[in-house]
Amino acid sequence: MTLDLRSVDRSEAESFVRLVYQAFGSVPDDDELARATERFEPDFAIGVFDQGRVVATAGAYPLEMTLPAGPGRDLPTMAVPGVTAVGVAPTHRRRGLLTRIMDHQLADLRDRGYPVAALLASESIIYGRFGYGWAQSYQSLLIESDRAAFRPDVPADTGRMRLLEPDEAGKLLPLVHDRARHLRPGELNRNARWWKNHLKDPEKERGGGEARMYAAHESASGEADGWVSYRYGKQDWPEGIPRHQVEVDDLVAAGPAAQAALWRFVLDLDLVEEVKAPNRPLDEPLRWMLADPRRLRTTEVADHLWLRILDVPAALAARGYRADERLVIEVTSADPSARGRFVLETGPESGSCRPAKGGENTQLVVGLADLGAMYLGGVSPSTLAAAGRVNEVAPGVLAAADRVFASPVTPFCTLHF
Ligand SMILES: CC(C)(COP(=O)(O)OP(=O)(O)OC[C@H]1O[C@@H](n2cnc3c(N)ncnc32)[C@H](O)[C@@H]1OP(=O)(O)O)[C@@H](O)C(=O)NCCC(=O)NCCS
Repeated sequence: MTLDLRSVDRSEAESFVRLVYQAFGSVPDDDELARATERFEPDFAIGVFDQGRVVATAGAYPLEMTLPAGPGRDLPTMAVPGVTAVGVAPTHRRRGLLTRIMDHQLADLRDRGYPVAALLASESIIYGRFGYGWAQSYQSLLIESDRAAFRPDVPADTGRMRLLEPDEAGKLLPLVHDRARHLRPGELNRNARWWKNHLKDPEKERGGGEARMYAAHESASGEADGWVSYRYGKQDWPEGIPRHQVEVDDLVAAGPAAQAALWRFVLDLDLVEEVKAPNRPLDEPLRWMLADPRRLRTTEVADHLWLRILDVPAALAARGYRADERLVIEVTSADPSARGRFVLETGPESGSCRPAKGGENTQLVVGLADLGAMYLGGVSPSTLAAAGRVNEVAPGVLAAADRVFASPVTPFCTLHF
């Protein structure tokens, strides 16, 4: 039996989408099928076919990711493929089809000149073997609204909140997001098609809750600088007492004043007992704003974006650095096109990276996936060394590597793709 791996064209988009849904254990309804087909990217879609039927899939979205910067610099950005729609039919699992698809896709993305690929993993066991590293985490928060008074030192809001209907949100939110995404490493752009799809807020994706609501924050000068989107959960009035839950979808701000105002707004919503915020960065400041911080609980911390370095010198030269250092790093990998010994020189302007020469001795040995994990500053080389994953060959070089890879802003992306 031959299983052919090839690109998937637009006329095959529906069967591609159906296979992805099936791999994840569901059947798309007509609306889901139409929306997923609209998102289909023929330039990146590949499939494995068994007697003409698609049995394994993968795709990608062309995205732009924000990277760490040197001191006083704007954060640079880089084009990254956001790998998506990875699925294998239940009839064809554990026969190496994902491995075949990954090998093909990684080579293809490298040939197209991408230094790095990104994805969100359904399970954290899957992608490390292909050289992807856990580059960002999220935390889920649960806050008791009625015990969520702010400390007196949180500055009072000098701007104002404004409720938005979805069509107004569709005009304003992309502008605010485009500003905010340049302030955090790891953040990804959202294109017009993504917004259109998101704002539809189909009932099937509401988890039994109400429709999504939107509220924007405007600074004192009238400029929109943040928004929160949220939904009330199932209405709950035990013995006549309102105990509703609100779930925060996005809470995005272009500065700390807007961020505080958005949290104040959502924690002051009436009839609400608890606010859930399932997708927040690890450096979320809300805990430090609360007078009674134990009333905010972290209910989950887990992996979010995974990065695969495809071209080590290009990837390391693309981000900025806050330390002047010279490191000789050996990157280990089963992939001969990615491994090697490299010299990384960093300074306030930028970094440069090239293959190491004979006399330049290795100081640090890092697996390719762990280089992906360190890339945005989401985990330090020292932490990885303590876990036995990074090897300090030259004594003392770990501290220098920590300074080189650190980011003052914790990496995070708000996009699910
Ligand atoms: C995850 C999935 C794509 C794997 O496809 P597959 O064709 O079975 O994977 P492969 O046969 O190439 O497996 C390669 C290796 O990964 C391991 N592996 C793959 N998926 C795994 C999983 N979910 N849990 C544990 N191990 C897994 C295999 O055991 C194999 O290990 P080995 O090389 O030591 O033998 C498939 O199970 C699937 O479609 N799952 C549901 C949808 C999903 O989660 N997709 C990923 C979206 S991010």
